[in-house]
Amino acid sequence: QRPILRRFSCPGTVAEDFRREEQPSGSVETGSEDKTPKKTFSEVQKERREQAQRTVLIHCPNKINEKKFLKYLSQHGPINNHFFYDSFGLYAVVEFGQKESIDSLQNGTHTPSMGMEAAIPFRSRFFNLKLKSPSHQTSEQPCVRSSNQLPPSSKKLFELLCYAESIDDQLNILLREFQLTEENTKLRYLTCSLVEDIAAACFPDCTVRPFGSSVNTFGKLGCDLDMFLDLDEIGKLSTHKTLGNFLMEFQVKNVPSERVATQKILSVIGECLDHLGPGCVGVQKILNARCPLVRFSHQASGFQCDLTTNNRFALKSSELLYIYGTLDFRVRALAFSIRCWARAHSLTSSIPGAWITNFALTTMVIFFLQRRSPPILPTLDFLKTLADAEDKCIIEGNNCTFTHDLNRIKPSGNTETLELLLREFFEYFGNFAFNKNSINIRQGREQNKPDSSPLHIQNPFETSLNISKNVSQSQLQKFVDLARESAWILQQEDVDRPSPSSNQPWGLAAFLLPSVVNKTSLAKKKVKKPASERIKNLLESIKSNTTENCTSTNGK
Ligand code: CTP
Ligand code: MG
Repeated sequence: QRPILRRFSCPGTVAEDFRREEQPSGSVETGSEDKTPKKTFSEVQKERREQAQRTVLIHCPNKINEKKFLKYLSQHGPINNHFFYDSFGLYAVVEFGQKESIDSLQNGTHTPSMGMEAAIPFRSRFFNLKLKSPSHQTSEQPCVRSSNQLPPSSKKLFELLCYAESIDDQLNILLREFQLTEENTKLRYLTCSLVEDIAAACFPDCTVRPFGSSVNTFGKLGCDLDMFLDLDEIGKLSTHKTLGNFLMEFQVKNVPSERVATQKILSVIGECLDHLGPGCVGVQKILNARCPLVRFSHQASGFQCDLTTNNRFALKSSELLYIYGTLDFRVRALAFSIRCWARAHSLTSSIPGAWITNFALTTMVIFFLQRRSPPILPTLDFLKTLADAEDKCIIEGNNCTFTHDLNRIKPSGNTETLELLLREFFEYFGNFAFNKNSINIRQGREQNKPDSSPLHIQNPFETSLNISKNVSQSQLQKFVDLARESAWILQQEDVDRPSPSSNQPWGLAAFLLPSVVNKTSLAKKKVKKPASERIKNLLESIKSNTTENCTSTNGK
């Protein structure tokens, strides 16, 4: 019998494992680890946001002479960066060196007359470039190089995985192929910046910031773009103007609650996007959700966008995930493979429902890595002990304080391989007592479940909330069954791995790829290998042996 019920030892106190010893000079003792200072989340956001404000999006003719295009645009000022991409037409993202270039370009641009239709004039940073003489241009130059914004096809992924040298290699391939590219990240910040221009029609000092997987280091190509409309800077009390006995206030409209205010603001922004926003289509106002939002498609970038406001917790959790994703190279590689695995087996879905979400899966990966011995990731409570005065953050009475400075956290001494971690992840959650325990990354240990929801993952900041409240018992059971099966398949890999040059599915390729490829290859494997019959029988026997355990742990 394989040791399916193995438990991990309790990590005990982890504080000393992660605290860096400050040196008198302010530098730290780092041993052989990477000494490059890591940027904070807000430094990255600020830099990218500023870059996006100097950037424009241009719909181009399909055949374009790149050199002449850049020369034409540089009459408005120096260009720092540019790239092209295809999305039902050719688009160019052009980053100028100075903001003034945008004014100059806008001043030299006209609003088209639309024949029978009428144009709504809006000076955005989204342009249409036309050729005065199309035939002249097409014959001149080969097509421009177009940057890819999509994840790899199943076929390509299948090949890459089959030819990999090890399971560790396969996990790294998945990460490399699915993670957001530099260009895709730029396009995400640019899209937020373009939406900010539209929202600024109502709220001139507003900010639209990306959050969620677009910025938390766990984004996969093709993931949605979560945006946060930040109105906090508007009308902030400036102390130097409060001298004397007078205090000036804005006259405002009052509504019964914060929630109603949020709904009204989003409703108006939804109308602006729908009626004024170039390229914003399919605008839906989902105002009765727990967290009201406006959903729309930004056609030119191809992003499905969710715009919320009054959602500071989500920004904070994006920062926390950014820290976890940046601390150790294994975190993202493991999270990506688990997310791909869940998608391939329909455990997650793009349609809202009783499925586990990617955010919940990422939290489970973080928790699992906090439970290793020695731990790979520190607990949130420990990150709080590293915070200084400027990190202090209280949102609606909840303490959301933790250090923003990655350089204060000592890397883990754990050297486990990705292959081992992947297998152990499946084993760990294949045997987790979901019926009585809650997953808690604040404390890094299991807690008693406060309610009867099948899967309980405590929201690290609003601790009374469960981030996986939507998950049904049957979806959880499916997750548990698949986790056990996958742990088993990975254990067999040591015995069954084909030679690296054979184009045969093995390791991740054997259970990761979506239905068609997966089914045929697994079927083939079964015909070829008599061992698979043995595995199947063993699986059945393990399932029946552990039914007792399931019944008691899952409370069915
Ligand atoms: N969020 C949260 N609590 C939830 C759901 C979401 O705090 N119950 C926050 C998280 O910060 C999450 C963000 O909202 O990252 C965006 O949610 P979502 O789009 O569902 O998840 P992503 O992490 O962006 O993952 P995906 O790639 O699937 O979009
Ligand atoms: Mg998202």
